[in-house]
Parts: sequence; structure tokens; C-alpha cells
Amino acid sequence: MKAISIGLLGLGTVGTGVVKIIESHQDKLMHQIGCPVSIKKILVKSLSKERQVPVDSSLLTERVEDIVEDPEIDVVIEVMGGVDETRSLLLTALQNKKHIVTANKDLMALYGPELLSTATENGCDLFYEASVAGGIPILRGLVDGLASDRITKMMGIVNGTTNFILTKMSKNGSAYEDVLKQAQELGYAEADPTSDVSGMDAARKMAILATLGFSMTIDLDDVKVHGITEISKDDLEYSKKLGYTMKLIGIASREGEKVEVSVQPTLLPETHPLASVNDEYNAVYVYGEAVGETMFYGPGAGSLPTATAVVSDLVGVIKNMRLGVNGRSTVAPQYPKSLKAPED
Ligand code: NAP
Ligand code: HSE
Repeated sequence: MKAISIGLLGLGTVGTGVVKIIESHQDKLMHQIGCPVSIKKILVKSLSKERQVPVDSSLLTERVEDIVEDPEIDVVIEVMGGVDETRSLLLTALQNKKHIVTANKDLMALYGPELLSTATENGCDLFYEASVAGGIPILRGLVDGLASDRITKMMGIVNGTTNFILTKMSKNGSAYEDVLKQAQELGYAEADPTSDVSGMDAARKMAILATLGFSMTIDLDDVKVHGITEISKDDLEYSKKLGYTMKLIGIASREGEKVEVSVQPTLLPETHPLASVNDEYNAVYVYGEAVGETMFYGPGAGSLPTATAVVSDLVGVIKNMRLGVNGRSTVAPQYPKSLKAPED
């Protein structure tokens, strides 16, 4: 059977993991979708940069047209980051009938409704599991696994970089700047880590979770955000002495028609399960009226865990292609069209 042709936008931390998984898991992919997957082109900023994975240099391009305008490319995987340029690139790709997989929460938190409705209009899928909590399949968990329940609250750690920083500062007494640098070297932090430490990255993820969990379009401006930049080693030391652990916690709750979403540093008793979620790991409690309490836990950032979510989305897209249900599948998380979060 003809191979599915992929255009990859970005070959950084996540893109490198995507290439590795597509190459090393071909047998598993063949088993899942019944045809090979091949990467036709990879968009990068600089052709001369040294790469973390061996790729044929003829695959690399600096021209977006080589991907979004190529009629032979079936699926575009976006792992380059950015908002405005990326939005217009993905809109073009959708108009050219390409399915999309993205890890970009900045984009989905701001332009999710527009991109998803453009995808539907063009009979395309747009999957974005990797945009929240890295390798944890939490979006699928919400929209498929808990599809029958009414979600009332979600609470947890959704940013790996800040969890890594707080863990190392608190357990090893490391300096903030040193651990932030380490998180960047390990590929956990965003290209500009301001969004991690300011809490904005977590806010974007909580907006996506609340939108899907509560079936309402949650505006990012309605999320109350405090980051970790004002937390000192002394604060962490003092909390520890009192039996508490500091974590950056996102909460989205719904009571009747009232929804509240926030992100802030929070003191948890050392015995609380979220207090022992360390390093780049994420964990989210999801409470449903019928199911009660569930917890999603796993690596929230990093190359291979995030790429696992991306390539699993690719499998979902290809399964839909084969079934002929792209753009109207129940598998792809869709934002609601008409509901809006009520004002306070
Ligand atoms: P990254 O390491 O900075 O890689 C970005 C890649 O995109 C690089 O290969 C870069 O090219 C390319 N690129 C960026 N802007 C470009 C442009 N304007 N034109 C052409 N190429 C461009 O980023 P990353 O950590 O892989 O993250 C990628 C996306 O995944 C982001 O949306 C991020 O929020 C999301 N994400 C990341 C993680 C994680 O753990 N890192 C987890 C979940 C989601 P060069 O290599 O030539 O510079
Ligand atoms: N910078 C993000 C984090 C990457 O640290 O959680 C995963 O979304």
C-alpha cells in the first residue's frame, strides 16, 4: 500500500523525537495503520545547523511552500512553535487539504476554534494531544475516555519546566538560574522560557483542558495567572520545614454555569499525591460527576515523550483517512461551536 507522506515543520526537541519514533517504530505503525509512513520534507530555520538525528540533507528545506503547497504531502506535523506565522501556515495547509498534527498550545489556546473549524470545512483532521502535558494522553482521556461524564474540576501540574525548577531548588538547593538553564538544555523549556516561568504556558494548557472538559470556549484572558519568578530558595526551605511542598498548580472548576480557571504557586502538604510529582513530570486530577476522581500522570515535557503523543495523533489521523471520516470524526477533539463561558 502507498506510504503516507508527511511534511514536518520543525526539527528541534520534539521534531527530532518524531523522526526517531517514525523510523524506529515502523513495525508498530505498520501494524496499526497497514501502510508505511515516510517523511518527505522537513522545514527548519537554518539548513547549516548541526542536527541531533541523522537525516538526509535533501529532506531539509527553509521554504514553507515545499510542504504546504506540495500535493503529495498528506499530513503536516507542526512542531516549530510560534503563533502568527504558524497560524497562517496551518490555515494554508488545511485549505490545501492536508491533515494537521500539532504540539502547539500557544496556537491552540488562541486560535483553536478558527483552526478546528477550517479543518472541518476542508474535511481535514487537526489533532493536538501533545499540546497539553507532553506524553500523557489527557485530551483523549477527556474527550473519549470520559465522554459520557460531566467534568466538574481539573487540577494539577501541567508545566514540566517549572516543576523541574521547583523540584531541584527544593530538593538540592540549586539556584533558579542554574536549573532553568538545565531545563533548557534538556529540551523541557519553551524557546523563550518566559512563558514557562510566568505561568502562561500552564495557563494556555488549562484553557485547552477547560475548553474540552467543560465543553465551553474558555478565553485565555479569563485565566488568572501567577508564575514562579518571585519564589526564592528561602520560601521553599521554609515551606519544607513546615511540612509543605511548593508546586505550580492549575485549577479549572465549574459550579453550575460558573467557570474559574487559574494557575498559581501553591503550598501542598507533603502527603498530598501532587507533592511527590517531581522533575519534568505532570499530573492532573480530573473529577467527573459519575466517575469521581481520576488522575493522569506522566512525563510532561521532553523529546520522546512529547513525540509519542504527536506520532500517536498521526496514527489517529491515518486511521481516519482510511475510514474516510476525517473532519467529522469523534476521535478528533473539537471545540464546541456555540457555547461560550459565561461572564462572572
Ligand atoms: P525547538 O527545539 O525550539 O525546535 C523548533 C524547530 O522549529 C527548530 O528545528 C527550528 O529550526 C524550527 N523553526 C522554528 N521557527 C521556524 C521558522 N520560522 N521557520 C522554519 N523553521 C522554524 O522547539 P521544541 O521544543 O521542539 O517545541 C516545538 C513545539 O512543540 C512548540 O510549539 C512547543 O511549545 C511544543 N512542545 C514542546 C515540548 C517540549 O518538551 N519541548 C512539549 C510539548 C509541546 P532550526 O532547528 O533550524 O532552528
Ligand atoms: N515548556 C513546556 C513545559 C513543554 O515545560 O511543560 C511541554 O509543553
